[in-house]
Amino acid sequence: MLRVATVAVALSYLLRPAVAQTPQTCASPSISPSAFANTKLDYVIIGGGTAGLAVASRLADDPSVQVGVIEAGLYHPVEPLIDTPSNVGATEGNPNFDWAFLSVPQPGLNGRQMTVPRGKLLGGSSALNFLAWNRGSKPDYDAWSTFADGSSDWGFEALVPYLRDTTTTRQNQTNPYPGIPANETTADFDPNLVGFSGPIASSYNDVYVDPPFPYIETLNSIGIPTNPNPDNGNTAGIINSRASLDRSRGVRSYAVEYYCRSVSQSNFHVLTGAQVTKILFNSSKKGNASLTATGIQYTANSTQFSVNVTKEVVLSAGTIQTPQLLELSGSLFILNSHKTFVIINNTVTGIGNSTLLNSLNVTTLVDLPGVGENLQDHLFAGVEYEVKPGVLTFDWLHNNATFEAQQTELYKANGTGYFAAFDSTLTWLPFELFLNSTQVSSILNVFDSVPVQNGTLQPLQHQLQRQWIQQGNVPQVQIILHNAGEVPPLNSNSSYFTAFIGTLHPWARGSVHINTTNPLAHPVINEHYLENDYDVQTILSGVKLLLSLQNVAPLSNIIQARNAPAVNIQSDADLINYIRSGAASSSHPAGTAALGPRAQGGVVGPDLVVYGTTNLRIADASVMPTIVGANLQQTVYAIGEKAAALISQAK
Ligand SMILES: Cc1cc2nc3c(=O)[nH]c(=O)nc-3n(C[C@H](O)[C@H](O)[C@H](O)COP(=O)(O)OP(=O)(O)OC[C@H]3O[C@@H](n4cnc5c(N)ncnc54)[C@H](O)[C@@H]3O)c2cc1C
Ligand SMILES: *[C@@H]1O[C@H](CO)[C@@H](O)[C@H](O)[C@H]1NC(C)=O
Ligand SMILES: *[C@@H]1O[C@H](CO)[C@@H](O)[C@H](O)[C@H]1NC(C)=O
Ligand SMILES: *[C@@H]1O[C@H](CO)[C@@H](O)[C@H](O)[C@H]1NC(C)=O
Ligand SMILES: *[C@@H]1O[C@H](CO)[C@@H](O)[C@H](O)[C@H]1NC(C)=O
Ligand SMILES: *[C@@H]1O[C@H](CO)[C@@H](O)[C@H](O)[C@H]1NC(C)=O
Ligand SMILES: *[C@@H]1O[C@H](CO)[C@@H](O)[C@H](O)[C@H]1NC(C)=O
Ligand SMILES: *[C@@H]1O[C@H](CO)[C@@H](O)[C@H](O)[C@H]1NC(C)=O
Ligand SMILES: *[C@@H]1O[C@H](CO)[C@@H](O)[C@H](O)[C@H]1NC(C)=O
Ligand SMILES: *[C@@H]1O[C@H](CO)[C@@H](O)[C@H](O)[C@H]1NC(C)=O
Ligand SMILES: *[C@@H]1O[C@H](CO)[C@@H](O)[C@H](O)[C@H]1NC(C)=O
Ligand SMILES: *[C@@H]1O[C@H](CO)[C@@H](O)[C@H](O)[C@H]1NC(C)=O
Ligand SMILES: *[C@@H]1O[C@H](CO)[C@@H](O)[C@H](O)[C@H]1NC(C)=O
Repeated sequence: MLRVATVAVALSYLLRPAVAQTPQTCASPSISPSAFANTKLDYVIIGGGTAGLAVASRLADDPSVQVGVIEAGLYHPVEPLIDTPSNVGATEGNPNFDWAFLSVPQPGLNGRQMTVPRGKLLGGSSALNFLAWNRGSKPDYDAWSTFADGSSDWGFEALVPYLRDTTTTRQNQTNPYPGIPANETTADFDPNLVGFSGPIASSYNDVYVDPPFPYIETLNSIGIPTNPNPDNGNTAGIINSRASLDRSRGVRSYAVEYYCRSVSQSNFHVLTGAQVTKILFNSSKKGNASLTATGIQYTANSTQFSVNVTKEVVLSAGTIQTPQLLELSGSLFILNSHKTFVIINNTVTGIGNSTLLNSLNVTTLVDLPGVGENLQDHLFAGVEYEVKPGVLTFDWLHNNATFEAQQTELYKANGTGYFAAFDSTLTWLPFELFLNSTQVSSILNVFDSVPVQNGTLQPLQHQLQRQWIQQGNVPQVQIILHNAGEVPPLNSNSSYFTAFIGTLHPWARGSVHINTTNPLAHPVINEHYLENDYDVQTILSGVKLLLSLQNVAPLSNIIQARNAPAVNIQSDADLINYIRSGAASSSHPAGTAALGPRAQGGVVGPDLVVYGTTNLRIADASVMPTIVGANLQQTVYAIGEKAAALISQAK
């Protein structure tokens, strides 16, 4: 959960209704670990998460191939903590659903460790996220084509069909921006851009709390426009975001929708409760000393199993565990004269930075120094206001018994009302929309002073990100209007709103690496948050924007008092300290197995195949060379869809 103050927030402040709606469910996975080991698979997908289930389900559309998926967590067909929209954040740290990783202490965050929630269940992190359903700007995706040597497989035009095909857009609302003139808010629902037959349901809110209306008017009055068509590659402005939510039932829509569309097929095999520990490679090298993946090893119920594949292994374990598995993979084996599988060398072997692997006595199969590097994330800080009595916020769901009872009845009966709503008011801001030209030049100077590591993807990233700042058309910060209080002490009879601002294209580059050869241990995560001045100045400029809004009508009319930062926090130095002590991740880690040229630290090429292998592909958020300036999920599903298309082309 994004929080303004310290990580040790009393979770009781978050909404936890007992009410539940029953989502659409399908057959549970039932194959045993040993039966799975005996299936004849063409493809195996490691990780039944957001991208993994998209790849698997699309591959299984071809009845002539056998597709297997191994997921460490379980299927939770009916689970209010996941299904009920107002419960977002409730699963954080719960070992039934969350791997619950933790970063190393961050000097830029006054030594705090950041929680790194990651879904451990069928559906992966799509079951834990905050539902915001949107996509990045055209330059975000066009940059990827640059990292793919100009390949026409990447870039905005190339990816739009995949972004589109992830979803069924519900457009029940004729004017999805109530309170705003229709001529300024009519969404086009262009069928070339927005999907109407994909697995994930995306919907607008059908009820709205109060703060968004004066907030939007106030932003408009200072020159920040409303943007009714953010799907066309221009995300700048205020957006009423859709949610990954099935409005007909009022429940989360997540990657299990992909599982359900394929589960009844005899060529689709899903094993849950099993953790992959190793990728197996054939030692009979092909072509340019390339390795061929022939299967995987996994552990279930404390027992080791392995399964063979004839075509490909797809690694979709997510930004944290994909590099971990690369660094630990795998054994070399040969087929002996009886065509029997013989592990010839059970030394721990891996793909990654050979210096790092050597230090752990891991033998390097492919020296790819980019593995686990290039970690990027969206970090947010917030300001919180107490609102005047009578202003409706989501806090009413727990501080107004009458309201809570009414809403509970609505939600139970029909899946409607405020328990089924989410914080849809999101704003994307290029610097030009809130800083003057002197301030933009000054932040550009700061950007020019950040450290750039040669021999990695960073020189090219710096060049592109610099253009984005200079040209002014690419949003650099996002504001999330969270219509509730988060920062204790909260007055339990009062209501609040919290505006979070975060960097969309930070310069921080972190890493995820193993520090032990135990595949069941957590890797070491270091995001390097706020260790460069550009990221600090970017968030500071956004926090100052938010603080300036409190005196602008009509937003000023609903504000009773500022709760955070405390009113005595005024100077830049104090504000920076406030940001360091309270900033939180929006849980968008990406980039640790990046698409890019091998010589510059890329891990996969334009075909998503890992360099030095013939048939190990990666499909998840780790392949993003530069983090997309949006909430990630739609893009991650699209990466899965794209990977399936690339694999099918290769058949
Ligand atoms: C709290 C939170 C809030 C977020 N909010 C939003 C939001 O509002 N909007 C938005 O667009 N995005 C949001 N995101 C981001 C988005 O959900 C993620 O970027 C996306 O789901 C990541 O997908 P993935 O396929 O890369 O990884 P995941 O979906 O995490 O999939 C990885 C899967 O692999 C499995 N796995 C890992 N290792 C192994 C192994 N060794 N063996 C077997 N299985 C394994 C995991 O259990 C998991 O199921 C949020 C994320 C979180 C966590
Ligand atoms: C919304 O539209 C979908 C089809 O797009 C329909 O199935 C659903 O019943 C509609 N819901 C409401 C509340 O009108
Ligand atoms: C929408 O209509 C209002 C009132 O008629 C007008 O002031 C405004 O300029 C219009 N906006 C656009 C984008 O045409
Ligand atoms: C796990 O192993 C135990 C002991 O070998 C066995 O009794 C049990 O049936 C196994 N459980 C599953 C789900 O395979
Ligand atoms: C997996 O492949 C190896 C090598 O070909 C073979 O020895 C083994 O029997 C295969 N396993 C299964 C379950 O088919
Ligand atoms: C295993 O293979 C690696 C790489 O080929 C080699 O360096 C190492 O010495 C081998 N170890 C054993 C025990 O054979
Ligand atoms: C590889 O690892 C070593 C040891 O951890 C480190 O010093 C070096 O910078 C790494 N190389 C890259 C490109 O990250
Ligand atoms: C690596 O191997 C050497 C020699 O066997 C041993 O001394 C050292 O402790 C090992 N290091 C690790 C991290 O296991
Ligand atoms: C509580 O909710 C009820 C029902 O929506 C509303 O009429 C009432 O004004 C609310 N009370 C307060 C103190 O906001
Ligand atoms: C649920 O919807 C039905 C049909 O629209 C309606 O008759 C009923 O009153 C609703 N229930 C509640 C509690 O609002
Ligand atoms: C830009 O804004 C800063 C801070 O508000 C102000 O001091 C400066 O005069 C402005 N410069 C221009 C050219 O408007
Ligand atoms: C990186 O390379 C550029 C261009 O060759 C050079 O100007 C710069 O000094 C190098 N930076 C570092 C840190 O080595
Ligand atoms: C690995 O790092 C973690 C911190 O992330 C630490 O708790 C653990 O002791 C380290 N393990 C080794 C073997 O260094």
